[in-house]
Amino acid sequence: MITKRLPENSEGIAEAARILKAGGIVAIPTETVYGLAADARNVAAVEKVFVAKGRPQDNPLIVHISDIEMLRTVAADIPKEAYRLAERFWPGPLTMVLPRDESIPACVSAGLSTVAVRMPSHEIAHNIIKESGLPLAAPSANVSGSPSPTKATHVLEDLDGKIDAVVMSGDCAVGVESTVVTLCTVPPRLLRPGGVTVDELKEVLPTLAVDPAVLAEPEEGKPVASPGMKYKHYSPKSDVIMVCGEGFADFVNSKPDCGALCFSEEAGDIDCPHVVYGSEKNPETLAEGLFSALREADTLGADTVYAHAPKTDGVGLAVYNRLIRAAGFKVMEL
Ligand code: TXA
Ligand code: MG
Repeated sequence: MITKRLPENSEGIAEAARILKAGGIVAIPTETVYGLAADARNVAAVEKVFVAKGRPQDNPLIVHISDIEMLRTVAADIPKEAYRLAERFWPGPLTMVLPRDESIPACVSAGLSTVAVRMPSHEIAHNIIKESGLPLAAPSANVSGSPSPTKATHVLEDLDGKIDAVVMSGDCAVGVESTVVTLCTVPPRLLRPGGVTVDELKEVLPTLAVDPAVLAEPEEGKPVASPGMKYKHYSPKSDVIMVCGEGFADFVNSKPDCGALCFSEEAGDIDCPHVVYGSEKNPETLAEGLFSALREADTLGADTVYAHAPKTDGVGLAVYNRLIRAAGFKVMEL
């Protein structure tokens, strides 16, 4: 298959909508990461997404909508908290897990009775949903297990020849995937940290619980609330080890033949090949740079890459959550 490169203008949006309505799959930019979109009501189209990504069948997809009326067509028994969250955080990087409306086929949600829904703020994503008139099921547009794409070139690295088209837009502003919160449990529970922080969510959901899998490895054999959390993720081909604490530059300088993923503040003190992923003082830059830096880490030629862990407050929690998965939960304290 030849993957069409679509421009990020009205023609590109119209062509993307046309392909989606015909049951094709198209990578589209969002404010978090690029998503691989399909008509959420078309089982054959949704199956193409699983095949192109090599995604396990038991990992459900997020449904993307353009307005609140569409929410009522994909979810059922919507609680009032959902509307309060929508008012505060939509459009934006928040996904809510709600009871699934029967118009959304079970395969979208990997057989669960729930559906994850998000209203992206990215103008192109919004316009493609609106123009097609379809709720779009869209996981991140990477091959399963590799870092999520924050640039159109990342999508092509992974999926060129396997999908109908990609909208060639710019870099994603947030850089890590959306915050996922379920309203189907009491109390509501954070399943995946992201651009919307725990403190912000608690302003609307004071009883919010944080799933233990956010910061640690899910226990073997135990069911997980969000199936995506059990998979090794975001992995470059090198072996990544996450390193917490002070003295990172001295530590990597003492190791032979390694690579490093580091903060801009310490890069000048590091002797081995390294990639900067952002500033320690500004976790938003770490989120924005992380996935691109993980891909770049593979070009360092190091068997082992030590990655300096961020602090876990604010957006740092989302960065820490992605990095610990990229490291396959291998963590060292300095
Ligand atoms: O920012 C994002 O969320 C991006 C962009 C494209 O919107 N999408 C994204 O999708 O990250 P994906 O498929 O890579 O991650 C979806 C996550 C997975 O961890 C999945 O297990 C969880 O959401 N999820 C989806 N539906 C769910 C459900 N019904 N219940 C619990 N977790 C669910
Ligand atoms: Mg993903």
